[in-house]
Amino acid sequence: MAGTSQFSMNIICIGAGYVGGPTMAMIAAKCPQYKVTVVDINAERIAAWNSEKLPIYEPGLLEVVKIARGRNLFFSTNIAQAINEAEVIFVSVNTPTKTFGEGTGKAADLQYWEKTARDIIKASTTDKIIIEKSTLPVRTAHAMERILNANDKGIHFEVLSNPEFLAEGSAIEDLESPDRVLIGSQLTEKGLEARQKIVNIYANWVPKDRILTSNVWSAELSKLVANAFLAQRISSINSISMLCECTEANVSEVSRAIGMDSRIGSRFLSASVGFGGSCFKKDILNLVYICESYGLTEVAQYWENVVLMNEYQKRRFVKNMIKTMFNTIAGKKIALFGFAFKANTGDTRESPAIDIAKQLVEERAMVIITDPQAIGNAAKDLEGQLEYVKFTSDPYEAVDGAHAIAIMTEWDEYRTLDFTQIYKKMEKPAFIFDGRNILDHQKLYNIGFNVYPLGKESWKHF
Ligand code: NAD
Ligand code: UGA
Repeated sequence: MAGTSQFSMNIICIGAGYVGGPTMAMIAAKCPQYKVTVVDINAERIAAWNSEKLPIYEPGLLEVVKIARGRNLFFSTNIAQAINEAEVIFVSVNTPTKTFGEGTGKAADLQYWEKTARDIIKASTTDKIIIEKSTLPVRTAHAMERILNANDKGIHFEVLSNPEFLAEGSAIEDLESPDRVLIGSQLTEKGLEARQKIVNIYANWVPKDRILTSNVWSAELSKLVANAFLAQRISSINSISMLCECTEANVSEVSRAIGMDSRIGSRFLSASVGFGGSCFKKDILNLVYICESYGLTEVAQYWENVVLMNEYQKRRFVKNMIKTMFNTIAGKKIALFGFAFKANTGDTRESPAIDIAKQLVEERAMVIITDPQAIGNAAKDLEGQLEYVKFTSDPYEAVDGAHAIAIMTEWDEYRTLDFTQIYKKMEKPAFIFDGRNILDHQKLYNIGFNVYPLGKESWKHF
C-alpha cells in the first residue's frame, strides 16, 4: 500500500460492490490529491478489482478505474489497517431484506452494517467521519453513532448520510454528472464541520448547486422515498398496460401523452414485465416496515401495493403465455431473451426473469436462456432447476426448435437481430412475447410470428 503522506486526505470505503467500487473509483479519478482505498471481506472480489476483469460489468468503469488504480486508488482486504489510517470512512456494505426473526421479509438486515461499526471501533485510534453510503432505514445513523461512540478509547465518530442514487448500467454517467449529491449531517458544530469536508470532496467535480445538504434523517429517508417514487411510476404504468390490453388503447401512446405534461415528465414510464434490481423491492418493503412500526397502517399499505402490482405483472405475463399457447407449455421450448434486470448490466438480482423462468419450469416448459452479460448469474439464480434450463450466449442457438421467445431485458442487440432467420429455426406457430416492447411488432407479424406486446393489441395469424 502506498504511503499516506503525499495525499491531503485518506478516504476508505468498506464494501467493494456495485456502489463502493464505482463511487470510489470516480472520487479517486477526479481527486488525485486524496488516497482512496476500497476494502472488502471478499478476497475474490478484491482480486478482481485489481485485475483487468472487474467483478461487475458496468460500461466505462474499467477506464475510470484505470485512471486511478495504483496511483491513488487501492483495493485491499486489509480492513483493519485501512480503517486505522482513514480520516473519512464510507460504508457501502449490503443491507438486504431480513430473512429471519422480527421484520422478516420487510425490515432491513443491518448485521453487515453493525459488523462494520464494530470493526471500525476495534481498529481506530483517531477521530473519524463515518458516512452511510448503503441505503438504510431512517434513524440508523442515530443507532450507529450510539454504538460507535460507546467506545472507551475517547475517540469521536461523526456519522453522516450520503445516499447513492446511481443506477446500474449508467453508473459512470450518474457519478460523473449526478442530478444531485445529498449529504445529511447532525446540525452540531462537529456535524457541520464534517458535512463541509464531504461537500468539499464532491465539489471537485460536481457543481455546487447540485450538492444538497440536510439533516441526517431527511437524507436517509429521501433515499428510500426516491426509490419508492421511481418504482411507483413503473407499477402505475404497468397497471395501465393491463387496462390497455382490455380496451384497445396502446400503453406507449398513453405514456407519451401523459409524459409530455411537464408536471408528470416522460422518464420511467415504460411498461415492462416488472421492475427488478437489488433495491426497489427491498427499499419499499423497508419503507413499509418503518411505516408499520410507527402505526401508519394506511401509508404502509399504500406503498406495499407498488410491490404487489409488480408481482402481479410478472404472474400475469406467464399466465398470458400459457393461455396464448393453447393452455399448455409442458414440453415446449421457450427462449428467454435477456436475464439481467435491465440492459447494460450483468446483475440479475430480483430480475423479473428469475420468477418468469421458475414459473415456466413449474409448467414443465424447457427454458433456454440467452443474455450477453448475465449467463453466469442466471445459472446461480436457477440452481436446483437446471434439469429444465439451458444457457447460451447466442440468441440464434437459443431459438433452435423453440415454440416461443419472451423478451426479458431491453438489450439493444435484440432490436437488430435477423428475425427472418430466427423464424425459420422455430417451431410453428411461432410466438413472441415482448416483455419490454422493444421490437418492431408489425415487421415480426409480417415475417410470420404471432406477437404479444405489453399493453398493446396483439398481432396474430389465427
Ligand atoms: P453488494 O452486495 O454488491 O456489495 C456489498 C459488499 O460489501 C460485498 O462485496 C460484501 O462482501 C461487502 N461486505 C459485507 N459486509 C462486510 C464487512 N463487514 N466488511 C467488509 N465488507 C463487507 O451491494 P451493493 O449493490 O453495492 O449495495 C450496497 C448498498 O448500496 C446497499 O445498501 C444498497 O441498497 C445501496 N445501493 C445500491 C445501488 C445499486 O445500484 N446496486 C444503488 C444505490 C444504493
Ligand atoms: C435504481 C434507481 O434508479 C437508482 O436511482 C438507485 O440508486 C438504485 O435503484 C438503487 O438504490 O439501487 P437500478 O435499480 O440500478 O437503479 O436501475 P433502474 O434504471 O432504476 O431500473 C430498475 C428496474 O426498473 C429495472 O428492472 C428496469 O428495467 C425497470 N424499469 C425502469 C421499467 O420497467 N420501466 C421503466 O420505465 C424504467
